[in-house]
Amino acid sequence: MMYEHILRPLLFSFDPETAHHLAMSGITSGMIGGTRDNLRTDLRKTVFGVDFPNPIGLAAGFDKDGVAIDFWERLGFGFIEVGTVTFHPQPGNPKPRLFRVQEEMGLINRMGFNNHGAEALARKLAASQATIPVGVNLGKSKITPLEEAAEDYGNSYRLLHELGDYFVVNVSSPNTPGLRDLQDKDSLKAIFSTLREIDDKPPLLVKIAPDLSESALDDVVSVASEYQLAGIIATNTTIDRSMLASDPNETGGLSGAPLTGKSNVVVAHLRSVMPESMALIGVGGIMATADAVRKFELGADLIQVYTGFVYGGPNFVRQILSELPPLEG
Ligand SMILES: Cc1cc2nc3c(=O)[nH]c(=O)nc-3n(C[C@H](O)[C@H](O)[C@H](O)COP(=O)(O)O)c2cc1C
Repeated sequence: MMYEHILRPLLFSFDPETAHHLAMSGITSGMIGGTRDNLRTDLRKTVFGVDFPNPIGLAAGFDKDGVAIDFWERLGFGFIEVGTVTFHPQPGNPKPRLFRVQEEMGLINRMGFNNHGAEALARKLAASQATIPVGVNLGKSKITPLEEAAEDYGNSYRLLHELGDYFVVNVSSPNTPGLRDLQDKDSLKAIFSTLREIDDKPPLLVKIAPDLSESALDDVVSVASEYQLAGIIATNTTIDRSMLASDPNETGGLSGAPLTGKSNVVVAHLRSVMPESMALIGVGGIMATADAVRKFELGADLIQVYTGFVYGGPNFVRQILSELPPLEG
């Protein structure tokens, strides 16, 4: 209530990226958040060998540089994913690059992997006191040609492989030219074999776009099986606008409520073709408890939120946690 009627209107009076920075300052100063308490010990689960106090994570992109790693558990999160980080620090696309589609509870972003680089993130992770699992999401540096993508991911992984609980190969952002082409079989193979050669112990996942055809999804699953990946994260933002009533006319990836259906179709398909032992992290358009429940029903082992947290505020995760039925399996 307090967020919806006071804090959100205040934050939303700023442009979205400024609002994001204000919210981050509120979180890292301790003004936003609470103390860590484990509301629901029955939601604890172990996935790919990692213990999750609850299955709701912060999706990649919110805390790209890990500036608030130690604070997310105070908001109820059971895990977080930092990044996307690239080997080379980079400023991202020119501003403005983040837009609200407020009537439809969506966001459009073309941030372009603005981040301080893998070395800076390594320092943050090494100093972190977080008690929840921390995943690290890796992307390709903009200046690195696509043909050298595997080595670029490898360079980041070499700096970070001992500092995260799981690692994600992000090949699904629409905002780095050519990045999504890396979702094809041969490119994925080159990336995974490079990372595996550096260190094959940490759980490795791949994050995919919601805009892939069924046969492209099946290809991803077959490569993921071949390389014995720990799991797949589905989905990133969409370039599709067909579900919008309004026409924001901004390029970038669409997230939030307009993405729910599309992301659910992908989650359901993946679960039907993935080996049971491979984990599925469901993300995309979880705006309320019912959406979270639906993702689990469709076969997600864990879920992540981004846009729902922006619209729902600091109590968003706790609210869902208090309403979730006990987990099966
Ligand atoms: C502003 C913004 C930045 C994002 N940055 C990243 C990113 O750096 N890496 C990534 O894998 N996903 C990124 N995402 C995608 C989210 O992690 C998530 O997959 C997507 O937004 C769908 O979830 P949602 O509907 O709950 O927001 C970003 C999303 C938004 C809105």
